Amino acid sequence: MFPHIRWRIAISYFILVAIVMGGLAAYLSRPDCIGDARCVRQAVSTAAILLLFGTAVVAIPVAARTTRPVRQLSQIIQRIATGEWEARVLPQTRDEMGELILAFNNMMDQLRQQHLALLEENSQFNTVLNYMIDGVLITDSEGSIRLINPAATKLFDLTEESALSRSFAEVVRHHQLIDLWQQCQKEGREVTAAAEIGRELFLQAIITPFEEGWAKGYLVILQDLTTVRHLQTVRRDFISNVSHELRTPLASLRVIIETLQDSAYDDPETAVRFLDRAASEIDVLTQMVAELLELSRIESGQVPLRLQATAVADLLLKPLDRLKPQAERAQIDLILDLPAALPKVQADPERIHQIVTNLLHNAIKFTPDEGEITLQAHRDEAENAVVISVHDTGIGIPKEDVGRIFERFYKSDRARTRGRGGTGLGLAISRHIVQAHNGRIWVKSKEQKGSSFYFTLPIATPDDR
Ligand SMILES: Nc1ncnc2c1ncn2[C@@H]1O[C@H](COP(=O)(O)OP(=O)(O)OP(=O)(O)O)[C@@H](O)[C@H]1O
Ligand SMILES: [Mg+2]
Repeated sequence: MFPHIRWRIAISYFILVAIVMGGLAAYLSRPDCIGDARCVRQAVSTAAILLLFGTAVVAIPVAARTTRPVRQLSQIIQRIATGEWEARVLPQTRDEMGELILAFNNMMDQLRQQHLALLEENSQFNTVLNYMIDGVLITDSEGSIRLINPAATKLFDLTEESALSRSFAEVVRHHQLIDLWQQCQKEGREVTAAAEIGRELFLQAIITPFEEGWAKGYLVILQDLTTVRHLQTVRRDFISNVSHELRTPLASLRVIIETLQDSAYDDPETAVRFLDRAASEIDVLTQMVAELLELSRIESGQVPLRLQATAVADLLLKPLDRLKPQAERAQIDLILDLPAALPKVQADPERIHQIVTNLLHNAIKFTPDEGEITLQAHRDEAENAVVISVHDTGIGIPKEDVGRIFERFYKSDRARTRGRGGTGLGLAISRHIVQAHNGRIWVKSKEQKGSSFYFTLPIATPDDR
């Protein structure tokens, strides 16, 4: 009825005072009271008591009504503080308290919106940081880690909790990176350097000093360039290998021709022998160029696969028969271990013959006489594939070469020095063919014990023909 508390209180008092004063005036104007000092005293003190009592009666409900919303408000503030952002008080009066509650609700709505905007911004920032391939660290001006993203924790094999608040030096534990950070701190400008961490990790580090309001520190970005560097090495090795492989038969050809020019020309028998050697060197060159061409065609997807549901035996028996004589010559046992109930696989038989031939040929080349080679196949339920494998009891592959033998032209030193023929392209071609079949190829080997090569081919579905 009365919109303002102060009016409500003032009017209540006015009515109270008016009633008491009115009563007092009426009492005092009674004829028996006029001129009677005792009566006047009695009337005034009764009025004072009534006024006091009336004040209490009026004040208590007014105070209770006024403070109820304040109590509700303080409860709501406590709930909001515990994270209940949606909690609100509904204004029940239209007085100052009602206005205060409306203003409070309004302020909370705005704060809520700002809070949501901040949360979204924060989650976008976190998404970028979490999914970044590059490692990101932020240190304060003293070098304590303030932020580290998952890529960086992975690089240094740490957890986020263990890295935070530790020093940059303790976290990265690498003198090149520590020196770079100190250089950035000293010079106050962005610095960049490449760092090799252990034998396997090659990083490019960029450290930038920043000053954002009160915050001052250093942003460290670590890019993993291991793959790029590996590719550079492969490319460099490829060029040097291909030159080397071409130079050897070319040098032999030159010697043959010079010898023919000098003397052998006059002796027809020697000339024929030398010409035969020249022809075989040309065969080597032709074979190499053909393999290179084939590899580059397979790599660029220009060789279409003629995929068909094929029995695994049909993929293994032909190469096995072809290489039997070679194995027999070296007195090597060639064993076929083929389970009877193998499903058909989806494969291009011609291409798979090529792989199996190369694997068997390698096994024969690198197995001393009287060794044993087993050609196996088994079903892999988990991969829904058939695994074909060639195991030998040969010289094995040095650990440092195992990861590289599928590269073009890569041959282990032992294979080179023993002069075992081959251009080093067989496994590179095999890998590409397997990958084109959606399979994978890998090797396990132990020096002086032997090697096992494996590759998978997907099982044909009833729809495959
Ligand atoms: N069964 C094996 N035992 C030991 N080393 C092997 C075996 N198979 C392959 N290697 C190593 O891997 C290298 C590469 O093999 P790959 O088949 O690619 O080439 P290559 O046999 O030398 O030549 P190409 O197959 O082109 O005639 C070999 O030179 C050898 O060092
Ligand atoms: Mg080979």
